[in-house]
Amino acid sequence: MKIGILASGNGSNLQAIIDSINKGYLQNAEISIVISDNENAYALKRSKDNNIKNLYINKKEYKTRIEYDTKIVEVLKEEKIELVILAGYLRWISEYFVNEYRGRIMNIHPSLLPSFKGLNAIEKAYNYGVKITGVTVHFVDETEDAGPIILQETIIINENMSLEKLEEEIHKIEHKLYPKAIDLFIKDKLYIENKKVFIRR
Ligand code: GRF
Repeated sequence: MKIGILASGNGSNLQAIIDSINKGYLQNAEISIVISDNENAYALKRSKDNNIKNLYINKKEYKTRIEYDTKIVEVLKEEKIELVILAGYLRWISEYFVNEYRGRIMNIHPSLLPSFKGLNAIEKAYNYGVKITGVTVHFVDETEDAGPIILQETIIINENMSLEKLEEEIHKIEHKLYPKAIDLFIKDKLYIENKKVFIRR
């Protein structure tokens, strides 16, 4: 399956997916292209280092969000991408983009959605004082961090846990959960009914 990854920053989730493919955990998966809206994204360096085609698309060259997304969709179609993975991609996906790839765009979020949507979710959960938080992988629709949930995993926040430790633990979970969700998709085990995701056993 041809996968396109959109990333704006560090790209540790991108790296986890690359490693899962290299280790043979993710089979029948090929990252055909990595696209970034940030010229300096470390994710772009990771793709170069792993000989993966990569592309920086400068938002300043496009007047509207739809024009920008039209360009991205054009590239994804040229590459015959079947699954789009958002891995720390910091731009909203337009309705146009969602419609072109509905049910085939995934995102990972570092909280138990629907709690702590948006940016800095780990810190928000930590400062709120919740005792349990976690990671969510979900399909992307036109709502903010509210598309159908594919997988979630929890972590208990102990009283003496630092924010840095929590961040580290959350990322460890992310790096296992995202490949797992992608694997289920590739094996055609996921289906959506009334906004709920079911896993074929
Ligand atoms: C992750 O915490 C992910 O949940 C969120 O953005 C972060 C991206 O990290 N959507 P990285 O760029 O994959 O290291």
